[in-house]
Amino acid sequence: MNGDEIRDLFIGYFEEKGHLHMPSASLIPAGDPTLLFTSAGMVPFKPFFTGEQTPPRVRMTSSQKSFRTTDIDEVGDHKHLTFFEMLGNFSIGDYFKEGAIEFAWELVTKKFGLDPDKLFVTIHLDDDDAFKIWRDQVGVPVERIYRYGDSDNWWGPAGNEGATGPCSEIHYDGGREKGCQDMVSPDDLTAILRADRDAGVKSGFPDVPGCHPNCDCERFVELWNLVFMQFYQDAQGTRVPLPAPSIDTGMGIERVAAVMQGVHDNYDTDTFRNLIAASESLTGVKAEGDRTASHRVIADHLRSTSFLMADGVLPSNEGRGYVLRRIIRRAIRHGHQLGATEPFLHKLVTSLVDQMGDAYPELAADQSRVEETLRLEGERFVDTLEQGIRILDQEISSLSGLVLAGDVAFRLYDTYGFPVDLTADYCREKGLTVDMAGFEQAMSEQRARARAASQFQMAETIEVSVDQSTTFSGYEELKGKATVLALLADGKEVQSLTSRQPAA
Ligand code: ALA
Repeated sequence: MNGDEIRDLFIGYFEEKGHLHMPSASLIPAGDPTLLFTSAGMVPFKPFFTGEQTPPRVRMTSSQKSFRTTDIDEVGDHKHLTFFEMLGNFSIGDYFKEGAIEFAWELVTKKFGLDPDKLFVTIHLDDDDAFKIWRDQVGVPVERIYRYGDSDNWWGPAGNEGATGPCSEIHYDGGREKGCQDMVSPDDLTAILRADRDAGVKSGFPDVPGCHPNCDCERFVELWNLVFMQFYQDAQGTRVPLPAPSIDTGMGIERVAAVMQGVHDNYDTDTFRNLIAASESLTGVKAEGDRTASHRVIADHLRSTSFLMADGVLPSNEGRGYVLRRIIRRAIRHGHQLGATEPFLHKLVTSLVDQMGDAYPELAADQSRVEETLRLEGERFVDTLEQGIRILDQEISSLSGLVLAGDVAFRLYDTYGFPVDLTADYCREKGLTVDMAGFEQAMSEQRARARAASQFQMAETIEVSVDQSTTFSGYEELKGKATVLALLADGKEVQSLTSRQPAA
Protein backbone atom coordinates (compact mmCIF):
# COMPACT_ATOMS: atom_id res chain seq x y z
CA MET A 1 0.00 0.00 0.00
CA ASN A 2 1.29 3.45 -0.82
CA GLY A 3 0.68 6.58 1.25
CA ASP A 4 -2.49 7.53 -0.63
CA GLU A 5 -4.01 4.08 -0.16
CA ILE A 6 -3.17 4.03 3.54
CA ARG A 7 -4.78 7.44 4.01
CA ASP A 8 -7.95 6.38 2.16
CA LEU A 9 -8.21 3.15 4.10
CA PHE A 10 -7.78 4.87 7.47
CA ILE A 11 -10.25 7.68 6.79
CA GLY A 12 -12.76 5.27 5.16
CA TYR A 13 -12.61 2.93 8.16
CA PHE A 14 -13.43 5.69 10.60
CA GLU A 15 -16.11 7.18 8.36
CA GLU A 16 -17.81 3.77 8.44
CA LYS A 17 -17.67 4.00 12.22
CA GLY A 18 -19.57 7.28 12.19
CA HIS A 19 -16.66 9.75 12.16
CA LEU A 20 -16.83 13.03 10.26
CA HIS A 21 -13.88 13.50 7.91
CA MET A 22 -12.31 16.88 8.69
CA PRO A 23 -9.93 18.44 6.13
CA SER A 24 -6.33 19.07 7.14
CA ALA A 25 -5.98 22.48 8.76
CA SER A 26 -3.15 24.92 7.99
CA LEU A 27 0.31 24.41 9.52
CA ILE A 28 -0.26 27.81 11.11
CA PRO A 29 -2.66 27.18 13.98
CA ALA A 30 -5.73 29.41 13.75
CA GLY A 31 -6.53 31.47 16.82
CA ASP A 32 -3.93 29.76 19.02
CA PRO A 33 -1.19 32.17 20.05
CA THR A 34 0.37 29.48 22.29
CA LEU A 35 1.59 27.45 19.32
CA LEU A 36 3.89 28.35 16.45
CA PHE A 37 2.90 25.40 14.28
CA THR A 38 0.34 22.64 13.95
CA SER A 39 2.39 19.89 15.54
CA ALA A 40 -0.24 17.12 15.80
CA GLY A 41 -3.61 16.07 14.45
CA MET A 42 -5.41 17.29 17.56
CA VAL A 43 -4.25 20.92 17.34
CA PRO A 44 -7.23 22.18 15.29
CA PHE A 45 -9.54 20.40 17.76
CA LYS A 46 -8.11 21.89 20.96
CA PRO A 47 -11.21 24.03 21.69
CA PHE A 48 -13.48 20.97 21.28
CA PHE A 49 -11.63 18.98 23.95
CA THR A 50 -11.83 21.81 26.46
CA GLY A 51 -15.50 22.53 25.74
CA GLU A 52 -14.83 26.07 24.47
CA GLN A 53 -16.41 25.13 21.13
CA THR A 54 -18.93 22.52 20.04
CA PRO A 55 -17.54 20.06 17.49
CA PRO A 56 -19.48 19.49 14.25
CA ARG A 57 -19.73 15.84 15.36
CA VAL A 58 -18.51 14.00 18.48
CA ARG A 59 -16.61 11.52 16.26
CA MET A 60 -14.13 12.95 13.76
CA THR A 61 -11.20 11.73 11.68
CA SER A 62 -8.48 13.55 9.77
CA SER A 63 -5.16 13.37 8.01
CA GLN A 64 -3.37 16.42 9.33
CA LYS A 65 -0.23 18.06 7.98
CA SER A 66 2.06 18.37 10.98
CA PHE A 67 5.39 20.03 11.61
CA ARG A 68 7.72 19.64 14.61
CA THR A 69 11.29 20.59 15.17
CA THR A 70 11.59 18.59 18.40
CA ASP A 71 13.60 15.86 16.68
CA ILE A 72 15.36 17.95 14.03
CA ASP A 73 18.82 16.80 15.13
CA GLU A 74 17.70 13.23 14.55
CA VAL A 75 16.55 13.83 10.95
CA GLY A 76 18.82 11.73 8.75
CA ASP A 77 18.34 8.50 10.73
CA HIS A 78 15.76 5.93 9.60
CA LYS A 79 12.62 7.41 11.13
CA HIS A 80 12.71 11.03 12.28
CA LEU A 81 10.99 13.74 10.25
CA THR A 82 10.09 17.39 10.72
CA PHE A 83 7.04 17.26 8.45
CA PHE A 84 4.65 14.34 8.50
CA GLU A 85 1.02 13.50 7.95
CA MET A 86 -0.77 12.42 11.07
CA LEU A 87 -3.81 10.20 10.69
CA GLY A 88 -6.17 10.38 13.63
CA ASN A 89 -9.56 9.59 15.08
CA PHE A 90 -11.13 11.79 17.72
CA SER A 91 -13.92 11.31 20.21
CA ILE A 92 -15.17 14.36 22.02
CA GLY A 93 -16.89 12.90 25.06
CA ASP A 94 -18.15 9.90 23.09
CA TYR A 95 -16.16 6.60 23.22
CA PHE A 96 -13.14 6.35 25.52
CA LYS A 97 -10.32 3.85 26.14
CA GLU A 98 -12.23 0.73 25.19
CA GLY A 99 -13.56 2.11 21.91
CA ALA A 100 -10.23 3.65 20.90
CA ILE A 101 -8.28 0.46 21.60
CA GLU A 102 -10.75 -1.79 19.83
CA PHE A 103 -10.90 0.40 16.72
CA ALA A 104 -7.12 0.67 16.57
CA TRP A 105 -6.56 -3.05 16.92
CA GLU A 106 -9.15 -3.94 14.32
CA LEU A 107 -7.78 -1.45 11.80
CA VAL A 108 -4.16 -2.47 12.28
CA THR A 109 -4.64 -6.23 12.29
CA LYS A 110 -7.69 -6.71 10.03
CA LYS A 111 -7.57 -3.83 7.55
CA PHE A 112 -3.84 -3.17 7.36
CA GLY A 113 -3.32 -6.89 7.88
CA LEU A 114 -0.33 -6.58 10.20
CA ASP A 115 0.65 -9.74 12.04
CA PRO A 116 -0.63 -9.41 15.65
CA ASP A 117 2.42 -11.35 16.85
CA LYS A 118 4.61 -8.49 15.69
CA LEU A 119 2.71 -5.86 17.66
CA PHE A 120 3.67 -4.66 21.13
CA VAL A 121 1.67 -2.17 23.16
CA THR A 122 2.72 0.35 25.76
CA ILE A 123 0.62 1.93 28.49
CA HIS A 124 1.18 4.42 31.30
CA LEU A 125 2.73 3.02 34.52
CA ASP A 126 -0.52 3.54 36.43
CA ASP A 127 -3.05 2.71 33.73
CA ASP A 128 -4.58 -0.57 34.91
CA ASP A 129 -7.75 0.07 32.88
CA ALA A 130 -5.84 0.12 29.61
CA PHE A 131 -3.86 -2.94 30.73
CA LYS A 132 -7.06 -4.91 31.29
CA ILE A 133 -8.56 -3.87 27.97
CA TRP A 134 -5.45 -4.93 26.04
CA ARG A 135 -5.08 -8.19 27.94
CA ASP A 136 -8.68 -9.31 28.46
CA GLN A 137 -10.68 -7.79 25.62
CA VAL A 138 -8.11 -7.68 22.85
CA GLY A 139 -6.07 -10.66 23.99
CA VAL A 140 -2.56 -9.21 23.74
CA PRO A 141 -0.20 -11.49 25.73
CA VAL A 142 1.15 -9.79 28.87
CA GLU A 143 4.73 -10.32 27.62
CA ARG A 144 3.96 -7.73 24.96
CA ILE A 145 2.37 -5.04 27.17
CA TYR A 146 4.98 -2.61 28.54
CA ARG A 147 4.39 0.21 31.02
CA TYR A 148 6.25 3.54 30.90
CA GLY A 149 6.28 6.77 32.90
CA ASP A 150 5.21 10.29 32.00
CA SER A 151 8.09 10.96 29.62
CA ASP A 152 6.88 8.24 27.21
CA ASN A 153 3.23 7.56 27.95
CA TRP A 154 1.73 10.87 28.95
CA TRP A 155 0.75 13.24 26.18
CA GLY A 156 0.30 16.98 25.98
CA PRO A 157 -0.67 19.60 26.23
CA ALA A 158 0.13 20.96 22.78
CA GLY A 159 1.39 24.47 23.54
CA ASN A 160 1.57 25.69 27.12
CA GLU A 161 -2.04 24.88 27.93
CA GLY A 162 -4.76 22.49 26.76
CA ALA A 163 -6.02 18.93 26.95
CA THR A 164 -3.68 16.24 28.25
CA GLY A 165 -3.75 12.64 29.43
CA PRO A 166 -2.09 9.22 29.58
CA CYS A 167 -1.55 7.39 26.33
CA SER A 168 -1.11 3.93 24.91
CA GLU A 169 0.98 3.14 21.85
CA ILE A 170 1.16 0.33 19.32
CA HIS A 171 4.70 -0.56 18.24
CA TYR A 172 5.77 -2.79 15.38
CA ASP A 173 8.56 -5.28 16.04
CA GLY A 174 11.09 -5.39 13.20
CA GLY A 175 12.64 -8.51 14.71
CA ARG A 176 15.50 -9.50 16.99
CA GLU A 177 18.03 -9.00 14.17
CA LYS A 178 17.27 -5.27 14.08
CA GLY A 179 17.60 -5.01 17.85
CA CYS A 180 20.42 -4.47 20.28
CA GLN A 181 19.94 -7.38 22.71
CA ASP A 182 17.26 -9.71 24.13
CA MET A 183 14.10 -8.17 25.54
CA VAL A 184 13.78 -7.11 29.17
CA SER A 185 10.50 -8.46 30.60
CA PRO A 186 7.61 -6.01 31.09
CA ASP A 187 7.58 -6.70 34.85
CA ASP A 188 11.29 -6.01 35.22
CA LEU A 189 11.02 -2.78 33.23
CA THR A 190 7.99 -1.66 35.27
CA ALA A 191 9.92 -2.30 38.51
CA ILE A 192 12.90 -0.23 37.26
CA LEU A 193 10.75 2.68 36.05
CA ARG A 194 8.64 2.72 39.22
CA ALA A 195 11.79 2.73 41.36
CA ASP A 196 13.19 5.59 39.24
CA ARG A 197 9.97 7.52 39.63
CA ASP A 198 9.87 7.01 43.40
CA ALA A 199 13.46 8.20 43.60
CA GLY A 200 12.66 11.24 41.45
CA VAL A 201 15.05 10.05 38.70
CA LYS A 202 14.16 10.71 35.07
CA SER A 203 13.58 7.68 32.83
CA GLY A 204 16.40 5.20 33.37
CA PHE A 205 16.70 3.60 29.93
CA PRO A 206 20.48 3.42 30.04
CA ASP A 207 20.14 1.15 33.08
CA VAL A 208 17.61 -1.16 31.49
CA PRO A 209 19.12 -4.65 31.02
CA GLY A 210 17.46 -5.50 27.70
CA CYS A 211 15.63 -4.21 24.65
CA HIS A 212 12.05 -2.87 24.86
CA PRO A 213 9.57 -1.00 22.62
CA ASN A 214 10.99 2.47 23.39
CA CYS A 215 14.62 1.37 23.13
CA ASP A 216 16.90 3.64 21.09
CA CYS A 217 17.88 0.81 18.75
CA GLU A 218 16.13 0.26 15.41
CA ARG A 219 14.07 -2.81 16.37
CA PHE A 220 10.72 -1.13 17.09
CA VAL A 221 8.71 1.43 15.15
CA GLU A 222 6.01 3.33 17.00
CA LEU A 223 2.94 3.16 14.79
CA TRP A 224 0.07 4.70 16.64
CA ASN A 225 -0.45 6.77 19.74
CA LEU A 226 -3.84 6.63 21.48
CA VAL A 227 -4.27 9.50 23.93
CA PHE A 228 -6.87 9.24 26.67
CA MET A 229 -7.61 12.92 27.15
CA GLN A 230 -8.77 13.50 30.69
CA PHE A 231 -7.46 16.81 31.98
CA TYR A 232 -7.14 20.43 31.05
CA GLN A 233 -3.70 21.73 32.02
CA ASP A 234 -3.20 25.47 32.38
CA ALA A 235 0.00 27.44 31.75
CA GLN A 236 1.05 26.95 35.40
CA GLY A 237 0.72 23.17 35.09
CA THR A 238 -2.46 22.84 37.16
CA ARG A 239 -4.76 20.06 35.94
CA VAL A 240 -8.54 19.90 36.21
CA PRO A 241 -10.80 17.24 34.63
CA LEU A 242 -12.01 17.95 31.08
CA PRO A 243 -15.78 18.36 30.58
CA ALA A 244 -15.74 14.71 29.38
CA PRO A 245 -13.07 12.05 28.84
CA SER A 246 -12.12 12.13 25.17
CA ILE A 247 -9.87 10.45 22.60
CA ASP A 248 -7.12 11.83 20.37
CA THR A 249 -5.01 9.48 18.31
CA GLY A 250 -2.08 9.96 15.97
CA MET A 251 -0.56 7.62 13.43
CA GLY A 252 2.29 8.85 11.25
CA ILE A 253 1.42 7.83 7.70
CA GLU A 254 5.11 7.59 6.75
CA ARG A 255 5.87 5.05 9.47
CA VAL A 256 2.89 2.86 8.64
CA ALA A 257 3.86 3.03 4.98
CA ALA A 258 7.36 1.82 5.88
CA VAL A 259 6.00 -1.15 7.82
CA MET A 260 3.36 -1.96 5.19
CA GLN A 261 5.93 -1.79 2.43
CA GLY A 262 8.21 -4.07 4.44
CA VAL A 263 11.08 -1.57 4.46
CA HIS A 264 11.19 -0.49 8.13
CA ASP A 265 12.68 2.83 7.10
CA ASN A 266 10.60 5.95 6.35
CA TYR A 267 13.02 7.02 3.66
CA ASP A 268 12.59 3.76 1.77
CA THR A 269 8.87 4.39 1.23
CA ASP A 270 7.45 5.44 -2.14
CA THR A 271 7.27 9.21 -1.52
CA PHE A 272 10.74 9.50 -0.05
CA ARG A 273 12.38 7.12 -2.51
CA ASN A 274 11.25 9.38 -5.33
CA LEU A 275 12.38 12.56 -3.59
CA ILE A 276 15.77 11.07 -2.81
CA ALA A 277 16.11 9.89 -6.41
CA ALA A 278 15.46 13.48 -7.54
CA SER A 279 18.05 14.78 -5.07
CA GLU A 280 20.55 12.16 -6.30
CA SER A 281 20.10 13.09 -9.93
CA LEU A 282 20.35 16.82 -9.20
CA THR A 283 23.52 16.55 -7.12
CA GLY A 284 24.98 13.65 -9.07
CA VAL A 285 25.76 11.91 -5.77
CA LYS A 286 24.27 8.54 -4.79
CA ALA A 287 22.55 8.16 -1.42
CA GLU A 288 25.06 5.66 -0.08
CA GLY A 289 27.19 5.38 3.03
CA ASP A 290 27.78 8.68 4.78
CA ARG A 291 25.99 10.55 1.96
CA THR A 292 22.66 8.98 2.88
CA ALA A 293 21.89 11.27 5.79
CA SER A 294 22.32 14.46 3.73
CA HIS A 295 19.90 13.21 1.06
CA ARG A 296 17.39 12.34 3.77
CA VAL A 297 17.71 15.77 5.36
CA ILE A 298 17.18 17.41 1.96
CA ALA A 299 14.09 15.27 1.25
CA ASP A 300 12.59 15.96 4.68
CA HIS A 301 13.38 19.68 4.65
CA LEU A 302 12.07 20.06 1.09
CA ARG A 303 8.72 18.77 2.32
CA SER A 304 8.57 20.87 5.47
CA THR A 305 9.71 24.12 3.88
CA SER A 306 7.42 23.77 0.84
CA PHE A 307 4.37 22.97 2.96
CA LEU A 308 5.12 25.82 5.36
CA MET A 309 5.37 28.26 2.46
CA ALA A 310 2.23 26.91 0.82
CA ASP A 311 0.47 27.73 4.11
CA GLY A 312 1.74 31.29 4.00
CA VAL A 313 4.96 31.29 6.08
CA LEU A 314 7.73 33.38 4.52
CA PRO A 315 11.41 33.28 5.45
CA SER A 316 12.31 36.05 7.88
CA ASN A 317 14.42 36.71 10.94
CA GLU A 318 11.84 36.00 13.58
CA GLY A 319 9.08 33.67 14.69
CA ARG A 320 7.75 31.17 12.18
CA GLY A 321 9.68 32.79 9.36
CA TYR A 322 12.97 32.24 11.17
CA VAL A 323 12.20 28.59 11.79
CA LEU A 324 11.55 28.28 8.06
CA ARG A 325 14.76 30.10 7.14
CA ARG A 326 16.78 27.87 9.47
CA ILE A 327 15.40 24.75 7.86
CA ILE A 328 16.04 26.03 4.34
CA ARG A 329 19.63 26.90 5.31
CA ARG A 330 20.11 23.51 6.89
CA ALA A 331 19.01 21.83 3.66
CA ILE A 332 21.30 24.09 1.62
CA ARG A 333 24.21 23.20 3.89
CA HIS A 334 23.57 19.48 3.35
CA GLY A 335 23.40 20.10 -0.40
CA HIS A 336 26.73 21.89 -0.17
CA GLN A 337 28.09 18.83 1.60
CA LEU A 338 27.05 16.82 -1.46
CA GLY A 339 28.90 19.25 -3.68
CA ALA A 340 26.04 21.59 -4.72
CA THR A 341 27.53 25.06 -5.03
CA GLU A 342 24.45 26.63 -6.64
CA PRO A 343 20.99 26.99 -5.12
CA PHE A 344 19.23 23.69 -5.83
CA LEU A 345 16.30 23.17 -3.45
CA HIS A 346 13.81 24.98 -5.68
CA LYS A 347 14.56 22.52 -8.47
CA LEU A 348 13.20 19.67 -6.37
CA VAL A 349 9.76 21.19 -5.79
CA THR A 350 8.38 19.65 -9.00
CA SER A 351 9.08 16.14 -7.78
CA LEU A 352 7.42 16.96 -4.44
CA VAL A 353 4.34 18.27 -6.25
CA ASP A 354 4.29 15.05 -8.31
CA GLN A 355 4.31 13.04 -5.10
CA MET A 356 1.94 15.00 -2.92
CA GLY A 357 0.15 17.58 -5.06
CA ASP A 358 -2.99 15.47 -5.50
CA ALA A 359 -3.56 15.00 -1.78
CA TYR A 360 -2.57 18.61 -1.04
CA PRO A 361 -3.75 20.87 -3.89
CA GLU A 362 -2.46 23.99 -2.07
CA LEU A 363 1.05 22.74 -2.80
CA ALA A 364 0.42 22.48 -6.53
CA ALA A 365 -1.41 25.82 -6.57
CA ASP A 366 1.53 27.59 -4.94
CA GLN A 367 4.32 25.77 -6.72
CA SER A 368 5.84 28.74 -8.54
CA ARG A 369 5.80 30.99 -5.45
CA VAL A 370 7.41 28.25 -3.37
CA GLU A 371 10.08 27.70 -6.01
CA GLU A 372 10.80 31.39 -6.33
CA THR A 373 11.12 31.85 -2.58
CA LEU A 374 13.44 28.86 -2.26
CA ARG A 375 15.53 30.13 -5.16
CA LEU A 376 15.89 33.60 -3.61
CA GLU A 377 16.70 32.18 -0.19
CA GLY A 378 19.23 29.88 -1.78
CA GLU A 379 20.92 32.73 -3.66
CA ARG A 380 21.02 34.85 -0.56
CA PHE A 381 22.70 32.17 1.52
CA VAL A 382 24.88 30.23 -0.86
CA ASP A 383 27.41 33.06 -1.21
CA THR A 384 28.08 33.38 2.49
CA LEU A 385 27.80 29.65 3.15
CA GLU A 386 31.18 28.82 1.72
CA GLN A 387 32.94 31.64 3.50
CA GLY A 388 31.25 30.68 6.74
CA ILE A 389 32.21 27.03 6.40
CA ARG A 390 35.82 28.08 5.75
CA ILE A 391 35.86 30.15 8.95
CA LEU A 392 34.22 27.35 10.86
CA ASP A 393 36.76 24.81 9.60
CA GLN A 394 39.60 27.13 10.61
CA GLU A 395 38.15 27.61 14.07
CA ILE A 396 37.62 23.87 14.45
CA SER A 397 41.16 23.05 13.37
CA SER A 398 42.62 25.39 15.96
CA LEU A 399 40.33 24.14 18.72
CA SER A 400 42.05 22.59 21.70
CA GLY A 401 38.99 20.97 23.33
CA LEU A 402 35.70 19.63 22.03
CA VAL A 403 33.59 22.78 22.46
CA LEU A 404 33.28 25.60 19.94
CA ALA A 405 33.18 29.01 21.66
CA GLY A 406 29.80 30.76 21.80
CA ASP A 407 31.18 33.99 20.36
CA VAL A 408 32.43 32.12 17.26
CA ALA A 409 28.95 30.65 16.77
CA PHE A 410 27.57 34.15 17.22
CA ARG A 411 29.94 35.67 14.66
CA LEU A 412 28.93 33.00 12.15
CA TYR A 413 25.31 33.84 12.81
CA ASP A 414 25.73 37.57 12.69
CA THR A 415 28.08 37.83 9.72
CA TYR A 416 27.35 34.75 7.63
CA GLY A 417 23.72 34.07 8.53
CA PHE A 418 24.51 30.68 10.09
CA PRO A 419 21.66 29.81 12.44
CA VAL A 420 23.24 28.39 15.58
CA ASP A 421 21.61 24.99 15.08
CA LEU A 422 23.32 24.77 11.69
CA THR A 423 26.69 25.43 13.36
CA ALA A 424 25.80 22.88 16.04
CA ASP A 425 24.77 20.38 13.38
CA TYR A 426 28.09 20.80 11.58
CA CYS A 427 30.03 20.51 14.85
CA ARG A 428 28.08 17.40 15.88
CA GLU A 429 29.19 15.64 12.72
CA LYS A 430 32.75 16.28 13.85
CA GLY A 431 32.15 15.11 17.42
CA LEU A 432 32.03 18.66 18.84
CA THR A 433 29.49 20.76 20.69
CA VAL A 434 28.82 24.50 20.80
CA ASP A 435 28.94 26.58 23.97
CA MET A 436 25.27 27.58 23.80
CA ALA A 437 25.40 29.68 26.96
CA GLY A 438 28.22 31.73 25.40
CA PHE A 439 26.20 32.07 22.21
CA GLU A 440 23.11 33.27 24.12
CA GLN A 441 25.25 35.75 26.03
CA ALA A 442 26.66 37.22 22.80
CA MET A 443 23.13 37.30 21.38
CA SER A 444 21.68 39.19 24.31
CA GLU A 445 24.53 41.71 24.20
CA GLN A 446 23.70 42.32 20.57
CA ARG A 447 20.01 42.71 21.37
CA ALA A 448 20.85 45.32 23.97
CA ARG A 449 22.93 47.20 21.39
CA ALA A 450 20.11 46.99 18.85
CA ARG A 451 17.61 48.29 21.41
CA ALA A 452 19.83 51.25 22.18
CA ALA A 453 20.20 51.96 18.44
CA SER A 454 16.50 51.73 17.74
CA GLN A 455 15.68 54.13 20.60
CA PHE A 456 18.01 56.61 18.99
CA GLN A 457 16.29 56.18 15.65
CA MET A 458 12.84 56.54 17.19
CA ALA A 459 13.89 59.90 18.59
CA GLU A 460 14.82 61.05 15.11
CA THR A 461 11.67 59.84 13.42
CA ILE A 462 9.20 60.67 16.14
CA GLU A 463 7.71 63.67 14.40
CA VAL A 464 6.62 61.60 11.41
CA SER A 465 5.40 58.59 13.37
CA VAL A 466 1.69 58.09 12.92
CA ASP A 467 -0.41 57.41 15.94
CA GLN A 468 -2.56 54.47 14.88
CA SER A 469 -3.17 51.25 16.74
CA THR A 470 -2.56 48.04 14.82
CA THR A 471 -4.41 44.77 15.19
CA PHE A 472 -2.35 41.69 14.41
CA SER A 473 -4.54 39.34 12.38
CA GLY A 474 -1.85 36.89 11.26
CA TYR A 475 -2.99 34.10 13.57
CA GLU A 476 -6.36 33.88 11.86
CA GLU A 477 -5.72 35.09 8.34
CA LEU A 478 -3.06 34.76 5.68
CA LYS A 479 -4.17 37.87 3.77
CA GLY A 480 -5.57 41.18 4.89
CA LYS A 481 -6.10 44.79 3.86
CA ALA A 482 -4.02 47.57 5.30
CA THR A 483 -3.41 51.24 4.62
CA VAL A 484 0.07 52.66 4.11
CA LEU A 485 0.25 55.59 6.50
CA ALA A 486 3.75 56.88 5.87
CA LEU A 487 6.95 56.09 3.95
CA LEU A 488 10.26 56.63 5.66
CA ALA A 489 13.76 56.66 4.22
CA ASP A 490 16.88 57.55 6.17
CA GLY A 491 14.67 58.57 9.07
CA LYS A 492 12.72 61.13 7.00
CA GLU A 493 9.22 60.99 5.62
CA VAL A 494 9.17 60.72 1.82
CA GLN A 495 6.47 60.57 -0.81
CA SER A 496 7.85 57.59 -2.72
CA LEU A 497 10.37 54.78 -2.34
CA THR A 498 12.23 52.76 -4.91
CA SER A 499 12.95 49.06 -4.52
CA ARG A 500 16.20 48.32 -2.64
CA GLN A 501 16.19 51.76 -1.03
CA PRO A 502 17.00 51.25 2.68
CA ALA A 503 13.97 51.86 4.86
CA ALA A 504 14.02 54.15 7.87
N1 ALA B 1 -1.59 13.91 19.87
C1 ALA B 1 -0.95 12.64 19.87
C2 ALA B 1 0.40 12.67 19.23
O1 ALA B 1 0.74 13.64 18.61
C3 ALA B 1 -1.82 11.59 19.26
O2 ALA B 1 1.14 11.71 19.33
